[in-house]
Amino acid sequence: MIQDPFDAAAEAADHLRGRAEAPRVAVVLGSGLGAFAEGLVDAITIDYAEVPHFPEVGVVGHAGRLVVGNVPGGGPRVAALAGRVHVYEGHSVAHVVHPVRALRAWGVDSVVFTNAAGGMRPRLAAGTLMLIKDHVNLSGHNPLTGPNDDRLGPRFPDLSQAYDKKLRAAFRAAAREKGIALAEGVYVGLAGPSYETPAEIRMLQNIGGDAVGMSTVCEVIAARHCGLRAAGISCITNAAAGLSDQLLDHDEVKQTADRVRDAFVALLHGGLRHIEAEAA
Ligand code: HPA
Repeated sequence: MIQDPFDAAAEAADHLRGRAEAPRVAVVLGSGLGAFAEGLVDAITIDYAEVPHFPEVGVVGHAGRLVVGNVPGGGPRVAALAGRVHVYEGHSVAHVVHPVRALRAWGVDSVVFTNAAGGMRPRLAAGTLMLIKDHVNLSGHNPLTGPNDDRLGPRFPDLSQAYDKKLRAAFRAAAREKGIALAEGVYVGLAGPSYETPAEIRMLQNIGGDAVGMSTVCEVIAARHCGLRAAGISCITNAAAGLSDQLLDHDEVKQTADRVRDAFVALLHGGLRHIEAEAA
């Protein structure tokens, strides 16, 4: 139970401060992107288990970890969070967003959220990378439900520019330089864990959605609330339900994520360099 999200984040940040200096930018890694954390150099690895209130990650042999290290080839120092949890696993939304608030309390100023998502447009075929320009939160949750703690952020935070323009420009520039195709679109966040029905996908297309997934929206709301800049990139792992003859299964999601991993990691490296340059 997280009784007091502000105090919990402060406790976690105290622990992190004892282990490493906070970098400016953190990356929350979606399925199949552990390679990004493993590729960081001069790294300090901090197990989630040692950080106050960090969630227990369900996958056997893959304890959650926060890796602080340099982007290879002389890039900036960043923090990578490998192992995120979801409300569908039974975690409270306060637990899901706690690492984000801890990053802020530690001293991070920008967070890049990555995820796997189903594509709802012909231009978003499996294997496409999509920069998130906005989201629709249909998860049924909001991390700000309940009394507001003004120490964390305002009661009614603005979300009209949830996905930071400059951060997006940094990833677009990196994609151009590296010849990586980067689509842009609106991410719809649902609770899961069942995949959608074809009727639901038609509805989500009609409301302006481009990709659909089961994470990110609550984390971005918490990030904006506490003053973090946010960016999001989806790996489109499959055509959404009803848009192909295939049934959806998690193996396909994992296989596509693996296939795209090198390009995704290269895009992250390039974007992080641009973000660093912008700040200099
Ligand atoms: N729907 C929801 N979440 C997902 C999907 C999908 O099709 N693919 C990967 N995550």
